[in-house]
Amino acid sequence: MSLLSHFCRRIRMTGPLHVAELMHDVIMDPKHGYYPQAASIGHKGDFITAPELTPVFGEIIGAWSLLYWQQAKLPPKIHFTELGPGRGTLMRDIIDTVGIIGPAFFGKAPKLSASLVELSEKFIAEQEEMLCGNVRNTITPQHIFDNHNYLSRTGLHKAKFKWYSMLDHAPDDKPSLYIMNEFLDALPVNQFQKTEEKGWVEIMVDVEPDMDKLFYTTYKTGKSIKIDQDKEFALLPVGSQIEHSPASDMLVTSLAERIAKSGGAALIIDYGEDQLSTELTFRAFKNHQQVNPLEDLGLCDLTADVNFKDLKKSIADVKGVKAHGPITQSSFLTLMGVGERFKQLYSQVPEDKQDSVIHAHNFLCSPDEMGDRFKVLCITRESDPVPFCFEGSSS
Ligand SMILES: C[S@@+](CC[C@H](N)C(=O)[O-])C[C@H]1O[C@@H](n2cnc3c(N)ncnc32)[C@H](O)[C@@H]1O
Repeated sequence: MSLLSHFCRRIRMTGPLHVAELMHDVIMDPKHGYYPQAASIGHKGDFITAPELTPVFGEIIGAWSLLYWQQAKLPPKIHFTELGPGRGTLMRDIIDTVGIIGPAFFGKAPKLSASLVELSEKFIAEQEEMLCGNVRNTITPQHIFDNHNYLSRTGLHKAKFKWYSMLDHAPDDKPSLYIMNEFLDALPVNQFQKTEEKGWVEIMVDVEPDMDKLFYTTYKTGKSIKIDQDKEFALLPVGSQIEHSPASDMLVTSLAERIAKSGGAALIIDYGEDQLSTELTFRAFKNHQQVNPLEDLGLCDLTADVNFKDLKKSIADVKGVKAHGPITQSSFLTLMGVGERFKQLYSQVPEDKQDSVIHAHNFLCSPDEMGDRFKVLCITRESDPVPFCFEGSSS
């Protein structure tokens, strides 16, 4: 049965779905979900991410990690925790950079380890290959479900890699650098709309009576009644639409609590705004084209902009930690010297590759591409020094 038929049947039996329920199941359903089965990242895939475009992105994050580790005066045992590592390219470039330039920071090679939080069997195999050179075992949804830590291996630069199904299962008893690039935009959002007659209503997904076709409708739900009671939203005009991601808020709270308990820092990199947005952003991509999210379920990437303002509110509720930024991706990379690194690369590659170096730099930093749309938010302990690149941006 296709995922669309499955959802049509489910809605006929149990009633309309919250957008967040649809988004979660379409993205992560082990048998038919987009990430476990169909996802494809890269030039030939549905969308491209910064690390898939150029290793310079991971090099910069690796260099920032070393600077942070040194600033926080932590011993030369560096642990990373990456959520949603995709093909494993970003972690490979980070570990490679830290493995190569780490000895210059510490006077000896730092010990490296990483926890990878992933649920997609397709990507787990790609990550194992990328980080450890080959795939030893086929990890099935059953392995992932039955074991909190379903795979452990030693790989690149003798780093110890361990895979977990959820952040809650990954160790929280040591300082870690938590890395998330384009992870939170895959977490589910609820959508609401302000109406003249009913105040705030929730946008839900229903099915046509006589055919397998989904459409949006609105209902007064418990969640929309809560929004009616919020002073900030009461001021918005009729017709306003908002999104909220409780899953993202919970995840960021959990990250902040881990950092408060054991130290370390988080870098959250994603597209979105640092202010209340009154437009809906839930959308779908297939072959680099925007498509209808209610069609081709499980065969296209579903995503929504990250609300950095909400994330900062969640972080502020945790004692002992501080949010820095968000700053734009372009500011972060530029302060880290990305321009110099690309100039160096340009002079090293053959002439027929020089255009691709310029293209990669523009794609990461230009305001019309990722530069301004993507933001970088950092979390550290309140007692830690302000991390490199975030001076003057702490809230
Ligand atoms: C857009 S990809 C980002 C890939 C990678 N970070 C990069 O920059 O190329 C999203 C990643 O998050 C994973 N993912 C999405 N939702 C998840 C969830 N609820 N739990 C664990 N992993 C999830 C996907 O399988 C995929 O690896």
